[in-house]
Amino acid sequence: MPDSQQVASNSSSSRSATATKPALWSSRFVFIMAAVGSAVGLGNIWKFPYITGENGGGAFVLVYLACIAVIGLPLMMSEVMVGRRGGKSPIGTMAVVAKAEGRSKRWVGVGIMATLAAFLILSFYSVIAGWTMPYIISAISGSFSDINAEDSGALFGGLLASPWQLLLWHSIFMGLTVLVSAGGVRHGLERAVTKLMPALFILLLILVGYAATTGHFGEAVSFLFKPDFSALTAEAILTALGHAFFTLSLASGAMMAYGAYLPKNVSIARTAVVVAVMDTCVALLAGLAIFPIVFAHGLAASEGPGLIFVTLPVAFGQMPGGGFFATLFFVLLLFAAWTSSISMLESLVSYLNEKGVSRVKAAIGGGFAAWLVGITTLLSLNVWSDFTPMDSFARFEGKTLFDLYDYLTANIMMPLVAFLIAVFVGWKMKPEHSKAELGAWHKLWFPVVRYLTPIALLIVFAFNLR
Ligand code: PHE
Repeated sequence: MPDSQQVASNSSSSRSATATKPALWSSRFVFIMAAVGSAVGLGNIWKFPYITGENGGGAFVLVYLACIAVIGLPLMMSEVMVGRRGGKSPIGTMAVVAKAEGRSKRWVGVGIMATLAAFLILSFYSVIAGWTMPYIISAISGSFSDINAEDSGALFGGLLASPWQLLLWHSIFMGLTVLVSAGGVRHGLERAVTKLMPALFILLLILVGYAATTGHFGEAVSFLFKPDFSALTAEAILTALGHAFFTLSLASGAMMAYGAYLPKNVSIARTAVVVAVMDTCVALLAGLAIFPIVFAHGLAASEGPGLIFVTLPVAFGQMPGGGFFATLFFVLLLFAAWTSSISMLESLVSYLNEKGVSRVKAAIGGGFAAWLVGITTLLSLNVWSDFTPMDSFARFEGKTLFDLYDYLTANIMMPLVAFLIAVFVGWKMKPEHSKAELGAWHKLWFPVVRYLTPIALLIVFAFNLR
């Protein structure tokens, strides 16, 4: 769907004037669901628990929550706002909005870096999301019934050790992503997210309910919420910050691209608050579901990326109706990952589409390229697990290619993009323009993005560069 929208001056009437304008979300509710669909994904259910476990719990969670509130939320408002003003792909939007503000053409670089980050994330995200599929099969076939922690670990280890299996699931998942993306995001997504997101939420509540019966709930609560600041390192703060961007789908063009489809009359600030709150609730619920099980079975909180795949089958195996709940859980996790991966591809697809490539070709081409890069991730889980090419830098020592992609995107590219966006909206864009978009919230938002966000980002960077 090529578009020729112009900045700011476009009223909702000019948007509906021709059929070639991009389709807008049909209501605020649908946008919220699409944005929540993008935000809620592996980041909440897979990544948040395992990085919390690796970084010692409480203090890390507190920093993460602070990053969401003080940096993530204002940035989400900024991205959706810029996206709606530009009305194009993130790259196109940055070009259009920078020009309208009389700023340098180079601002387009922010859109390019965001699109690149989304592409890199998609490449490894698809590999991880693929893991849910063999888990669905195991759940249906009853393999989890009465499984112990050791066997569950072995099951997971077996999956990681098999490049061909990983390749199969990675390929299927990328295919699914391309399928919806090629059909036009709005069309494919609206129906799915409005039903599946609420279902996932309810299922997580059930899991938390089960976890409360393990006798280790209190331990998990104090692990998650009792801060021990002596365990907090500068790198953990950077990880919490990077994860705040990752989990809210920021600094990757996803929210900017979706913002372009947001009708003018919808309040950006209120919407962003709802999305951020829901995303945070899902992550905390996932933590509350998983850590009691971890402690009840004497598993290591610092287990790493396998954490939920090793712990949850043990819980499901003992729960009444566990086979059913396990199947439902991994199906919903697959869907949650799917609605996120679609939004990752959107930055690139919408850009190529603007350049005259059809949506179908753009989705296939972009998906294929990310699939190829993804193969290096899946090999780094087995055949190349000893290939740690950046060992000569202390910070990257022992990191496989997968670890490096994750680090590069979440800890370097996203904070950098976020910093530049904050500088753009806080210093380069006319305040009247952002005020027109944000209304009464502008008063609160403006000083935050102008001072607090960039300064906080600089401090975290400075501490990490020491
Ligand atoms: N927010 C998604 C998650 O938490 C990941 C994501 C990152 C989606 C960047 C889009 C863009 O799983």
